[in-house]
Amino acid sequence: MFQFMTTPRIIFGEGCLRSSLSTLNQFGYSVLLVTGKDLSRSEIITSYLKTQGMRYQHISVTNEPNIAMVEESAVVARLFKPDMVVAMGGGSVLDMGKALAAMVTNTGDLYDYVEVVGRNVPIKAQPIPMIAIPTTASTGAEVTKNAVLKSAQDKVKVSLRSPDILPNVAIVDPTLTYGTDPRTSGRGAMDAFTHLMEAYVCGEPNPLTDMICEEGLRRLARSILPGCRQDNPRARADLSFAAMLGGMAITNAKLGAAHGLASALGGKILAPHSVITARLAPVVMSENMRAAKLNGRNDLLTRYRKIAQLLLEDTEAQMEDGVEWVKRMLEKLEIPTLSYYGLSDTPFDVIAKDAMKSVAIQGNPLPLTQERLVEVLNQVCYNPVNRSSSQMGDLSEMH
Ligand SMILES: [Fe+2]
Repeated sequence: MFQFMTTPRIIFGEGCLRSSLSTLNQFGYSVLLVTGKDLSRSEIITSYLKTQGMRYQHISVTNEPNIAMVEESAVVARLFKPDMVVAMGGGSVLDMGKALAAMVTNTGDLYDYVEVVGRNVPIKAQPIPMIAIPTTASTGAEVTKNAVLKSAQDKVKVSLRSPDILPNVAIVDPTLTYGTDPRTSGRGAMDAFTHLMEAYVCGEPNPLTDMICEEGLRRLARSILPGCRQDNPRARADLSFAAMLGGMAITNAKLGAAHGLASALGGKILAPHSVITARLAPVVMSENMRAAKLNGRNDLLTRYRKIAQLLLEDTEAQMEDGVEWVKRMLEKLEIPTLSYYGLSDTPFDVIAKDAMKSVAIQGNPLPLTQERLVEVLNQVCYNPVNRSSSQMGDLSEMH
């Protein structure tokens, strides 16, 4: 038995934002517009709202959202009484939009509703309608049922999680990712990879998420280098599509240790989420493969081999080849090491202990002890993929 949920209306394609703006009219007249700091990106929306005589209040998200930021913005939002939230930006902006859509109608302390550090009470009132417009190919937040928020006091990242915060509409226009620099594109694509990979090997996959992950990995592998390097339309569209598939997969399957450790690390070092998951991915894959061999989990080993075959487009590829592919991508896409962000100065036992409390770690295909998570961190910190100038520069090289 399984169930599957996603954003009920998905509009996908080059230039689809401009042609689908009239969708906003279906939800009312007043818009809480949530964007990143570059306001010029959302001019297409504000000028449309003006021509339609619709009122809007603009909230600009400059950092990854924390719980205090959402609460402050929710006070402003409730006074404005919006009919809908329109969020246009990267994962942080979309998550902020989803949290605000919920907090407009659910008053009280946000800690009541968040997991791990809060009371994890289900949200009571239906959020206002929310339209998600991603400008990156990364988190797939346009089709996920959680909003990741930093808890400054607990130094971890946690989620506000509910099927009710799935956006009502996702407008995925790959041209919005054009012009993103190769490094930002690269780390976003690797986070999308980690979603697809962790959902494929997790403890609770289902036939639909398996299908989604396989197609996502296939498209991501063929397009990650050309799509991150330049605005190749087919490759950029593949990456937007793969990122969205990653979001669908993690909403309906589970994640694993890379994201469990990322939720703990995200509150402690200032590395972007995508860099953390990308750097953890190959080490977590190797650790899980080691544990699967020890436990005779041939089903899991078969899944890792399938990942390698999709990534290398080679039916003869072995599971270790998949790990090597990930390591090569970390180099080619110039993903910084976590030591660069001060991982070595953060006590590993504290990170591992916090990771054990995360929701993501429960999805790991095999239970990992706190000691093994410390070993994963040791590997990431002290045995990173070597970086040399000869390995780094040329994004045009294919795998
Ligand atoms: Fe992620």
